Amino acid sequence: MTLQVIVGAQWGDEGKGRIVDWFAAQADFSARYNGGDNAGHTVTVGSRIFKLHLIPSGIIHPRIVAILGNGMVVNPGTLFEEMDMLRQAGISVSPERLRLSCAAHLITPAHQALDKALEAERGKGSIGTTGRGIGPAYTDKATRRGLRLADMLAPDFCDRIGDHVTEANRTLRMLEAPELDPEPVCEQYREYAGRLKPFIADTSLELHTALQAGKTVLAEGAQGTLLDIDFGTYPFVTSSSTTAPGALTGLGLGLDVACGARVVGVVKAFQTRVGSGPFPTEVFDDLALRLRGTGEHPWDEYGTTTGRPRRVGWLDGVLLKYANRINGVSELAITKLDILSGLESLQLCTAYRCEGKLLTDLPFGSADLSPYEPVYEELSGWREDVSAVRRWEDLPSEAQAYLGRIADLAGAPVRLVSVGPEREQVVNHP
Ligand code: IMP
Repeated sequence: MTLQVIVGAQWGDEGKGRIVDWFAAQADFSARYNGGDNAGHTVTVGSRIFKLHLIPSGIIHPRIVAILGNGMVVNPGTLFEEMDMLRQAGISVSPERLRLSCAAHLITPAHQALDKALEAERGKGSIGTTGRGIGPAYTDKATRRGLRLADMLAPDFCDRIGDHVTEANRTLRMLEAPELDPEPVCEQYREYAGRLKPFIADTSLELHTALQAGKTVLAEGAQGTLLDIDFGTYPFVTSSSTTAPGALTGLGLGLDVACGARVVGVVKAFQTRVGSGPFPTEVFDDLALRLRGTGEHPWDEYGTTTGRPRRVGWLDGVLLKYANRINGVSELAITKLDILSGLESLQLCTAYRCEGKLLTDLPFGSADLSPYEPVYEELSGWREDVSAVRRWEDLPSEAQAYLGRIADLAGAPVRLVSVGPEREQVVNHP
């Protein structure tokens, strides 16, 4: 039995979609374990660009069964849009290929309205959420009044949706935000329930059975380690368990499958984040524009879900070491190395300075990074365009040195390097 976990080691947007796509070629199941349509995973196959928010990126491979795990929050409207998009691209999305956990939670328009109203109320202290209703849906889950996909099968589902909207309206009223009419929401969700029924299953049991039968399950994390509800830069985080151990609870798997699991930490060759929160190695002005791009290419640093420009900076080796520890990373996949081509020199944050001391570990986790000043090591850049390189030995020596230093800091070997958005633009370093 083989569990492979693909996890973001930064603040999300590491390029997990294309790494999942690479591993999915050899897998049987592709399973998302956290988050909802706040995620945006991009896979480029020839001239086709797939942007997936809910359905695991592995679905593009015909033999894969795609699973939406119990750790997820599901907006059925987005799900149907995505199913249509895939079908139009000739990809089969039948109940045999796509299975939704009966224990996953639903996102409704009331959650989205609450998300926006709560952000508006936070004012300057806002988190910069995606506005997709993620926080309020997980709040309902934690306070035990959430709606699960299994509830769609119950005869009184419409009443429950109505009660949920009425309850949300109480909070919206307090926040002086527009209230929702429960009737159209009930109607819409009644229709969604009819269409979703054939896809709802006990996916924990299905994955367990598959692993027992020797199948390979690829667990796809959304967001990144530094956005994890427990281990991220709290409170500037998302509301789910984004880390690799979250794959166990988010898919309903036991600890037995964790032994021998392959944990791939996906790391962008530089650092980015969207939304508010600390970012010690952030850069501005011309260098920021150089790393971010202008927005004219699909790979430029603009949010897949919201279109917001991403904040950019130098790679932070202290946070990477932390992420590798929390996830138990066994190997690294480095993405967007090609973007660094042409920079004369690169800065790599190898430690933090705090009150005259050098730190390479975070004494109090990642929540408050304000006391730390990054300490940089300067490395030579390379001029060569690396986008056509497919073998490690063909990478410029400076690029190899940069990747080697990342591996040292992280404490895990670099196995894959992506050098462009296309499926085949990968250097495999076995
Ligand atoms: P939420 O998940 O919409 O509640 O947003 C909480 C924080 O996580 C915000 O800073 C978002 O920008 C960030 N975030 C959520 N999803 C993603 C993602 O897929 N990539 C990068 N950042 C994300």
